[in-house]
Amino acid sequence: MRKKIVAGNWKMNTLLKDGMELAQAVEKLTSEKSNQALVIIAPPFTHLSKVRELIDHVKLSAQNCASEASGAYTGEVSPEMLVSAGAEYVILGHSERRSYYKEENELLNKKVKLALSKRLKPIYCCGEVLEERESGRLFDVVRAQLEVGLKDLSEQEIDQVVIAYEPVWAIGTGVVASPDQAQEMHKFIRDLLGELFSKQVAEHMSILYGGSCKPSNAEELFANPDVDGGLIGGASLVAEDFMAIVNAF
Ligand code: PGA
Repeated sequence: MRKKIVAGNWKMNTLLKDGMELAQAVEKLTSEKSNQALVIIAPPFTHLSKVRELIDHVKLSAQNCASEASGAYTGEVSPEMLVSAGAEYVILGHSERRSYYKEENELLNKKVKLALSKRLKPIYCCGEVLEERESGRLFDVVRAQLEVGLKDLSEQEIDQVVIAYEPVWAIGTGVVASPDQAQEMHKFIRDLLGELFSKQVAEHMSILYGGSCKPSNAEELFANPDVDGGLIGGASLVAEDFMAIVNAF
């Protein structure tokens, strides 16, 4: 059985005190119900170790990590540091990192491999921009993101990776992919993982949908056979909304 996962990407939101309150609220709501899904939150770096002390049923993720293990890289945070702060997951390849910070598939492959070598599980994001969808290049774009970003991983390593399909035109826009559009791409991704690794690996991997996922549309998205959960931005900043998405399973 594939793991169902709902992960909250807080992005650059909340000050420490608000973040701690939000984490506490998510922990409380998660502990009160036996959820079908694994619940993950990804606060900013500065909150990680404090938030870790407040959660038990909820797992912790970072939003990025360095591509080097240690040394003279001012301003960077290594995978090992994240693990020492209590993180189990790290979001890599988010479209905001790709577009604003020019992170390319080759660099992301380096980050994915380094994170895995330090026992940090990547939530690897892929997805096309609107122009790529409209010109019919969406599958080529996603194929390259996965082929290069996940290059040279062993079967044990790929087994630790979670994929998030986030069409860029749906992120923070209120325009959500239709259930059919999501299923079509998720199926494509699973088939591609089967080709790149093995059918067994592909069947086992969780593929999350992200982009304007809300309590009102989560259920129909998650009802698709290849949609194993969600990576939630805006709606993860309100504990009740986030948990309503978790409860959509
Ligand atoms: P959104 O963001 O839910 O606010 O659209 C999703 C994401 O960027 O992970």
